Amino acid sequence: MIKGGNRLEGSVSVSGAKNSALKLMAAAILGDNKSILQGVPKIRDVFTMIEVLNRLGIKAEFKKEDQLVIDPSGNISCEASYDLISQMRASIVVLGPLLAKLGEARVAMPGGCNIGSRKIDLHLRGFELLGAQIDMGQGYIQAKADILVGATVTLAFPSVGATENLMMAAVKAKGITVIENAAREPEIIDLANFLNSMGADIEGAGTSSIKVQGVAALKGIKYQVIPDRIEAGTFLIAGAISRGDIIVKNACPEHLEMVLGKLRDSGFDIKEQDTGVRIIADKRAKAVDIATLPYPGFPTDLQAQMMALLSLADGTSVITENIFENRFVFVSEINKMGSNIRTQGQHAVIEGAERIKGACVRCPDLRAGAGLILAGLAAKGTTEVEEIGHVERGYENFEQKLSRLGADIQRVPEEMTEVAQSASECVGRSEKKG
Ligand code: EPZ
Repeated sequence: MIKGGNRLEGSVSVSGAKNSALKLMAAAILGDNKSILQGVPKIRDVFTMIEVLNRLGIKAEFKKEDQLVIDPSGNISCEASYDLISQMRASIVVLGPLLAKLGEARVAMPGGCNIGSRKIDLHLRGFELLGAQIDMGQGYIQAKADILVGATVTLAFPSVGATENLMMAAVKAKGITVIENAAREPEIIDLANFLNSMGADIEGAGTSSIKVQGVAALKGIKYQVIPDRIEAGTFLIAGAISRGDIIVKNACPEHLEMVLGKLRDSGFDIKEQDTGVRIIADKRAKAVDIATLPYPGFPTDLQAQMMALLSLADGTSVITENIFENRFVFVSEINKMGSNIRTQGQHAVIEGAERIKGACVRCPDLRAGAGLILAGLAAKGTTEVEEIGHVERGYENFEQKLSRLGADIQRVPEEMTEVAQSASECVGRSEKKG
């Protein structure tokens, strides 16, 4: 439940990067002994990945001082079951490590999700080029390789997951693997740094061409996850939309160049100071056009948050979503708040409104949920955001961090408050309207 209108002020620290931590957890499988990961966010997707590892026979648990200990030295099953993979598509990245360590893997086909089909053809094609036999059972992927041999794999699209899965399969392959048209995200560099600290030999992570020289063994290590650039961007946009003054203490500006550039184009003053990245937003956003692209282009994971900001901008903005085929799902929800957004295929045209008003809205997915919460910060009146479980998948203590910055936000307890009661009646009304 969010009462809009408060300026957000003060400083916030972001948690470790979800989209790195999940892959480091999978990469730990490759070690002959345990690894300790520090800075792993306590979010739902991390607990799902802990469950995936435990089911594989790999002990994974949070110990003292926020250390996530992963011990792959037991005997490991090669099967990752459907109920877990279907909960979180990212668990598909256990395929590469299992193939490298055991020579086989049976992983359930991850379903699509509501932002797109989320195919894994590039992952599977790459494994075949490394010498694996891939069979598609009913709902299962069976991958087998007596030996993985280095090869050149050119990705038709710089897929983050495919780059990571193939890098992990290649670290113990015989000879040299080159991944061309590789993804360049900071999380790829974090994974390569982790693997190299374990004894792998990877060059070029962060560029489009990654070279992996196979090694015989990898050992477990202690490693700190990089800060979450998407969470950092979410808080900077929260500062912009609330016309506040926020410092994101551990944001890495070099991971956010395109985002900082667009916020500056939209008229905001962004300072990169040693205490972190600061946004001072004392005026209305100016309209800007955004095209989501593979890194270092504008990140698709901040598209919904920018759409919330631009729905209040002075002028008309166009957002083009080039990464996922269905990532405008939340437009109908935010339009309930008085935004004026029309979508046409992969383009969204946003006529900036003077103001938007509180409403009861529903999270369709993680980042759209964050976008709706940001819209609620600036809306006139009260917004009830339902199904915030999606948001809890990727943001640790999100409402606590926002309220510490001055937001009037609270989690509605199970029993209905009178406001939530009226909000839920309003949901009923809006659903009746269809
Ligand atoms: C990662 O997903 C992130 N998830 C996503 O963040 C992020 O949006 C995405 O990268 C792009 O940056 C994690 O890291 C856990 P892709 P991933 O493979 O690896 C197509 C969030 O909110 N494709 O780069 O699945 C695919 O359909 C999440 O934190 C194929 O066609 O992204 C999509 O359209 C959402 N075939 C596009 O590429 C393949 O084999 C990008 O996918 C693989 C992908």
